[in-house]
Amino acid sequence: MGVETSAAWQALQLHCDSGMGAMHLSSLFGEANRVDRFSLELDELYIDFSKNRITEETLSLLQALAEQQGLKHEIERLLVGEEVNDTEERPALHSALRAQGQDVSGVAEQVQGDVEAVLQKMTQMVDKIRAGHWRGYSGKPITDVVNIGVGGSDLGPLMITHSLQTVHSPVNLHFISSIDGTQTSNLLRGLNQETTLFILASKSFTTIDTLSNAETAKDWLRECIKSDDVIHAQHFIGVSTKPDKMTEWGIPPENQLLFWDWVGGRYSLWSAIGFPIALKIGMPGFRELLQGAHLMDQHFATAPLSENIPVVLGLIDIWNINFLNIHDKAILPYDARLKYLPSYLEQLVMESNGKSVAKSGDSVAYKTCPVLWGEVGPNAQHAFYQLLHQGTQAVMCDFIAPVERDDFDATSHAEKDESLRHQHELALANCFAQSRVLMLGDGAIPDNLKSSFDSPFKHYPGNQPSNTILMKTISAKTLGMLVAMYEHKTYVEGVMWGINSFDQWGVELGKLIAKETYSAIKEKTLAERFDSSTKALIDRVAK
Ligand code: F6P
Repeated sequence: MGVETSAAWQALQLHCDSGMGAMHLSSLFGEANRVDRFSLELDELYIDFSKNRITEETLSLLQALAEQQGLKHEIERLLVGEEVNDTEERPALHSALRAQGQDVSGVAEQVQGDVEAVLQKMTQMVDKIRAGHWRGYSGKPITDVVNIGVGGSDLGPLMITHSLQTVHSPVNLHFISSIDGTQTSNLLRGLNQETTLFILASKSFTTIDTLSNAETAKDWLRECIKSDDVIHAQHFIGVSTKPDKMTEWGIPPENQLLFWDWVGGRYSLWSAIGFPIALKIGMPGFRELLQGAHLMDQHFATAPLSENIPVVLGLIDIWNINFLNIHDKAILPYDARLKYLPSYLEQLVMESNGKSVAKSGDSVAYKTCPVLWGEVGPNAQHAFYQLLHQGTQAVMCDFIAPVERDDFDATSHAEKDESLRHQHELALANCFAQSRVLMLGDGAIPDNLKSSFDSPFKHYPGNQPSNTILMKTISAKTLGMLVAMYEHKTYVEGVMWGINSFDQWGVELGKLIAKETYSAIKEKTLAERFDSSTKALIDRVAK
């Protein structure tokens, strides 16, 4: 019997049916100090979850569900390194990667030596490249570093380095991921073989997307460099859990950075997969990122359920999804530096919880992961917010913004700084206005303007729930906290649904069939046993 038949679930259903389900968000704001009671703060992160259709009773019923599901115990099992990923028979120890020896026990403690050894090796390599001492084949210092990876071996470093774009870096960083080769050929056209270094990042070292891009990069280097040994020694660094495969590909051991199978791909930015981040901000900066995440880990481990940020946010998602029937989630950062956060969270959330079979092996009888997407908020306002405001879809939103900007002098009255401050305030005003209108709908229209909204086409139903997450600034530390918060929230939801958030069997079949299809494109007769649609598509390519 699934969680949906349990007493705690049924109590929530009753709570929903007897009023909360039909309640409009705007009616909840009559309560005094609502925001004080429905917000949490940790160091430089502030989370306002008051714009959700919840009361204190809702939260205590959700907490009862969490207790019934053994959430506290499951949090402990995750953090000490028990085998929470049961289909792959391994722990999920991303939190151990950022502990830097502090506050860990169990397997998480045992791996600290290995983790630190890789951090030390990263330090040597990062310092060498940033100081201009890593030389290309002709003796010139490296100026451009290209990360070749996909999924977790791309999105984390891409998202964090883009978010920290205002930090000066002595090398230019580039990312290529897509199998079609367009990114690779466009990028290589503008680079110089003498001064370009590639990072071949792949947990499994079998991903065809990454290996095919790496082969193209190697062929490009071969246009200038006769010896493959020189190419491998001076122009490639490998990051993987598979040293043998890296060696077989040609990468010498001294250029290899290792991580371990207990680091999930989408949880790997804290491992050597974060090498591009360290190149961008230096190793002290990378350690600040780890420290920020560790702060959130400690909070997750020790805060009571009712004050535990990832727990509360995860439980509110459960309420929205399973009781209020809201199955879409939009991630809306109000700072263009966070452009890749929605893509990053798409993988983290949907690859982790996009599942319909519980750990028991039974199909679940309730909804699990929402469809999650997003875009930089101000741009999205001019694209899909129409649907948020007037569509038929209920959507829960996360608004995310930095309170301060540190990339210009906010106290200076120089014209450029004045106008950037003005723009920052405009962005925040838009962020707060949107969450308010999505909550209140027509109720947000000022009295003196009501008559000009007297039309069915200008009706705003509101009642779209949202969280607002404010970071003091966008820094390595706050990004570490933010990402760890989302990781743990994802785990909390997985525990509530009784699913394994750490495997990804859903993507495996597609990979296998792509191989078979590739053979059929090369050898058309092999397509004979395919369906008529796929056969016709292959025929078109052949013609
Ligand atoms: O597409 C599935 C996936 O396995 C992701 O989980 C992973 O992040 C990505 O592929 C890349 O895998 P790898 O790092 O092994 O190349």
